[in-house]
Amino acid sequence: MQRTIHLILLAVVFFSSHPTDAAEPTASPRTCILAAFDDELALLYRALAEPKEEVLHGIHFAAGKLKGRNVIVCRSGIGKVNAAMVTALLIQHYRPCEIIFTGIAGGINLELRPGDIVIASKTAQHDFGTLTAEGMEVRGIKSAVTWQRNPVFLEPDARLMALADAAAKRIKLADIETRDGKRHPRIIKGVVVTGDVFVASPTKKAELRKALGADAVEMEGAAVAQVCQDLRVPWLVVRSISDGADHNALQDVDSFTALAAQNSAHLVMDIVAQLAAENNRK
Ligand code: ADE
Repeated sequence: MQRTIHLILLAVVFFSSHPTDAAEPTASPRTCILAAFDDELALLYRALAEPKEEVLHGIHFAAGKLKGRNVIVCRSGIGKVNAAMVTALLIQHYRPCEIIFTGIAGGINLELRPGDIVIASKTAQHDFGTLTAEGMEVRGIKSAVTWQRNPVFLEPDARLMALADAAAKRIKLADIETRDGKRHPRIIKGVVVTGDVFVASPTKKAELRKALGADAVEMEGAAVAQVCQDLRVPWLVVRSISDGADHNALQDVDSFTALAAQNSAHLVMDIVAQLAAENNRK
């Protein structure tokens, strides 16, 4: 008898502390917005109404309302491990309806210039795979949840992609002064690749274009996508170009981060406004 009670108590403790499905959204829908560093979130922090800060395991989460939608805004830190850790924490604690990653990226597609926006139509980790004398063979990652091998490219939520398309038509971006003169930012859907390296190499840039068809490179997106896919949370990655991932990248990233971060955040704010409007219509 005592053993049975003990087992029941153990089961209660286990199931109350280990939710079987981490991705069940809460009753009041909320969107989590992540970026690697604070500059990329500046516009969103400024626009956040009724802000309230919460600290979990030393990570700061800003809850509030953006365009009428409940949001959590959070800095993930740079690189795949930081991004994956914060995404998992976010999902476990806040049960978001969706996660949107915003920030800057290096342009791989030669037509892209600082301030242009790339909405990720798919994303891959360019530094996961097998390295031989012939070069890098990027492989899909075996999921820790399903133990099945994922495809090399993960694809975002179709509904968020549709909202991003609509946002691309609605937002007004300012012209940008670039090395080649004044230019109106372009918005494209494209391949965003992720790795734990800041690319400032024409050779690597050409390789990423040839091997993966990359349009832009950054350091977090595909890691966030992997966690979201495993924990079944809809996701989207939006990036704006800060540099050309080449010899000038380190200089350009200093000059264009603020502008690029702002453009990406603008598009994300419009998506959030559409989510709020959708929810009000329900
Ligand atoms: N983020 C912005 N520019 C980048 C680059 N060149 N490489 C990787 N991540 C970036």
